[in-house]
Amino acid sequence: MTEPDQVQLTVHEIVGGDAFFVRLVDEFYDRVAQDPVLVAVYPEDLTEPRRTTAAFLAQFWGGPPDYSAERGHPRLRMRHHPFRIRTLERDRWFLHMSAAVDVLLPADDPAAQPPLVAESGLVAEVRTAMLDYFDRGATAMINSPDE
Ligand code: HEM
Repeated sequence: MTEPDQVQLTVHEIVGGDAFFVRLVDEFYDRVAQDPVLVAVYPEDLTEPRRTTAAFLAQFWGGPPDYSAERGHPRLRMRHHPFRIRTLERDRWFLHMSAAVDVLLPADDPAAQPPLVAESGLVAEVRTAMLDYFDRGATAMINSPDE
């Protein structure tokens, strides 16, 4: 029999489901839209990137596989191939995603954290896991030399 303390939650569940990723991605793209370096890379209309990125991240962190149902295997490096991503773009991308994580998972403000994260005391773990993933993932998308 499964004891209550053996119940395992996904990150997707702990942060409150799809709504968390929609808000995270909105915070992120609001910053992208103000950054000339990234405006030059992204399409003018960010509606689709907002939708597909939120769906991908929700799926990646344990939510339903809605992204793959619609788009197929993520193949993220391949999907980023058409865009020139140097260290410069990578660093701006990570800067804005880190800022979005800070808004959604503020380290020192439990009242502003999603309820389950605050209750579980896991905010540091979830923050670190997400920032590590975004750091390494962003580096993996670099596909062009720096000059
Ligand atoms: C962990 C790192 C990253 C993740 C998880 C990620 C995720 C995604 C996803 C899921 C999409 C939509 C793919 C689709 O159409 O199905 C996307 C699109 C895109 N990403 Fe990323 N990305 C990352 C890093 C970066 C970096 C470093 C850049 C550099 C600027 C970047 C620029 C773009 C651009 C330009 C698009 C295309 C938008 C469009 O035309 O629809 N991404 N990304």
